[in-house]
Amino acid sequence: MSKQITVHYDNQPIYDITIEKDYSNLDTVIKKQVTAEHKVCIVSDSSVAKHYLEDVTEIVKDCVSKVTSFVFPAGEESKNLNVVEDLYEHLIKEKFDRKDILLALGGGVVGDLTGFAAATYLRGIKVIQLPTTLLAMVDSSVGGKTGVDFRGYKNMVGAFYQPEFVYINTDTLNTLPYREVAAGLAEALKYGYIIDKDFLKYFEDNKSSIKALDSQAINDVIYFSCKAKADVVSQDEKEMGLRAILNFG
Ligand code: GLY
Repeated sequence: MSKQITVHYDNQPIYDITIEKDYSNLDTVIKKQVTAEHKVCIVSDSSVAKHYLEDVTEIVKDCVSKVTSFVFPAGEESKNLNVVEDLYEHLIKEKFDRKDILLALGGGVVGDLTGFAAATYLRGIKVIQLPTTLLAMVDSSVGGKTGVDFRGYKNMVGAFYQPEFVYINTDTLNTLPYREVAAGLAEALKYGYIIDKDFLKYFEDNKSSIKALDSQAINDVIYFSCKAKADVVSQDEKEMGLRAILNFG
């Protein structure tokens, strides 16, 4: 069931996307990137933290010298520079320096905001993405678009900033409202229309198991989607041309 995809830039492997059914392999993946001298700040929102913050903290704390957490209220209203400032303040108080790491545990808002804070704190520290919504798994956690909304303008301030790795635990979808799963499926289906006709056929042939959230079918959907997105962003990291097709729909 475990699957891996590598995102390349300039034909060099840059980071891996790991798809698993739980967090049991997270320590092995983290230990490839960090050592006991690092500190990690887990950034999450109030909805996700109550389900997964404790488990992820337990895993990460065995890999590094210190784990702190920063949790903000769930929702798009939090995707702003005030929350980023609060996160900077937390990192300064916890004495985070350039070798320390942010870990985004949540959906698109958490991933985008954490990625942006990582891109700008001390001119850039490492970031790890642990997406917990289907939309974040199939789209926003991959490709390095980070940012926040500004005075009513969506994603107006941001940076292209790549994570160290993306680790997808498909089991987190079990706590996601079905409406949000459906939004992720719609996004995934888009790759079928614009990039991968075989994936479109897979979608049509397996509609009922996908809709029923059969774990193998969902795993396949995430794999096909991440592979399609990785192919596009590997060719056009900063949306100078081809990547714009991902904005379709
Ligand atoms: N969500 C579109 C992109 O990442 O380019």
